[in-house]
Amino acid sequence: MPLESPILLKNIPTPPWGEFADRKTLSYDDYVKADGYKSLDQAIGMEPKDIVEIVKAAELRGRGGAGFPAGMKWSFLPPQDGGQRFLAINCDESEPATFKDQVLTEFDPHLIIEGIAICMKACQLDTAYYYIRGEYHHHRVIFENAIAEAYANGVFGENSRMGKVNERWPNLYLQRGAGAYICGEETALLESLEGKRGWPRIKPPFPAVAGAFGRPTIINNVETLSMVVPVLANGADWFKSMGVGRPEGAPPNVPASFGPKLFGISGPVQRPGVYEDNLGVTLKTLVEDHCKGMIPGKQFKAAFHGGISMGVLDTTEYEAEMDFDIGKKYNNLGLGTACATIIPHDVSMVAMARNCARFYSHESCGQCTPCREGGNWLYKMLTRIEAGDGTMKDLDLLLEIASSMGSMPGTTICGLADGANWAV
Ligand SMILES: Cc1cc2nc3c(=O)[nH]c(=O)nc-3n(C[C@H](O)[C@H](O)[C@H](O)COP(=O)(O)O)c2cc1C
Ligand code: SF4
Repeated sequence: MPLESPILLKNIPTPPWGEFADRKTLSYDDYVKADGYKSLDQAIGMEPKDIVEIVKAAELRGRGGAGFPAGMKWSFLPPQDGGQRFLAINCDESEPATFKDQVLTEFDPHLIIEGIAICMKACQLDTAYYYIRGEYHHHRVIFENAIAEAYANGVFGENSRMGKVNERWPNLYLQRGAGAYICGEETALLESLEGKRGWPRIKPPFPAVAGAFGRPTIINNVETLSMVVPVLANGADWFKSMGVGRPEGAPPNVPASFGPKLFGISGPVQRPGVYEDNLGVTLKTLVEDHCKGMIPGKQFKAAFHGGISMGVLDTTEYEAEMDFDIGKKYNNLGLGTACATIIPHDVSMVAMARNCARFYSHESCGQCTPCREGGNWLYKMLTRIEAGDGTMKDLDLLLEIASSMGSMPGTTICGLADGANWAV
């Protein structure tokens, strides 16, 4: 375990202050002193399929938003055919008020790099791209330095300690995005990586079969890959001793919410930041304990609990358990990025909804009519309602447009439209 278990980051307010004020990027040497790269050494001595089995047994679910089981995704790759196979690491992180991957990139870049290398070994991928949000200038520089350190210490490149992967020396490159939210959607990210406009692709084929440059590609979030490191070091049972299991008697194919998770809390709380706790922690605990409560004079009214795409928890849902089942239990889209924006008593929910609609109408790539047209309508109508010029009929129309944007499967190419209607 490279860092103190089960905390990947230790809890850090953002920007770090108080007892965390002098937190610095962990260099290669310091990371190794803290037992870093031991999981990679362990992986190097293993059969690739056995690494995948451990990740599968841990039931590690993707931390990028959709919660798809990582080990299962890895096993979708077709057999080797001698050609290149890619890993794309999703650090686009453009969901408003989501900043957990930024903090990992800044403070623990070698944890991420170790997770990347383990994934490459497990899935026999020879080339990895770290796709980082264009606005993360400072973090990009930090990560490029960390990549250089990893090359200098034989993690990647010719004579890599991993040996040839898929008959090629493994390489890791950094690719910057150019500021489009949609490029976080995995197939838009691939288009952008290929130098094209970031338009989501129709699936199937899924990226594991035909991804970057038409070749098999695994796409994982930064936090998902970081979590692979402690999973390998401590085993599946250790990981499953944290979080929320499946209900008693439920068959094994019902997904559970095991393990620790990063939660990013912003809004009028005393100590906003990224905190690690077990899945299932309540929103109230995150606000009251980790963030030391609301700032004086502000009361909790509601929260975008997992990024604005996931919907809203209301005042009565302050004690909602933050796990992958939150959507089913509290009528929203899901846990998303688990980065909650806290809304205080004196902020208008109409204004919040209008602001979200503005964001989505701007960020829609425009390929699908319900998303391109619906988003704009929602924004215009909410602007009118906020100005006091709405009618009761507007409310029905709002709901009608919102439900036509995402509730019917197959109406749009990607999930942006679905996320766009939840605020309404
Ligand atoms: C509009 C949209 C934006 C997204 N943005 C991100 C993002 O910034 N980072 C991310 O990891 N996943 C994002 N996703 C989810 C990815 O498509 C994909 O599910 C994820 O990167 C897979 O990694 P994981 O399985 O490790 O979670 C987004 C999805 C949609 C529909
Ligand atoms: S749903 Fe919206 S963002 Fe996604 S592909 Fe369609 S138009 Fe583009």
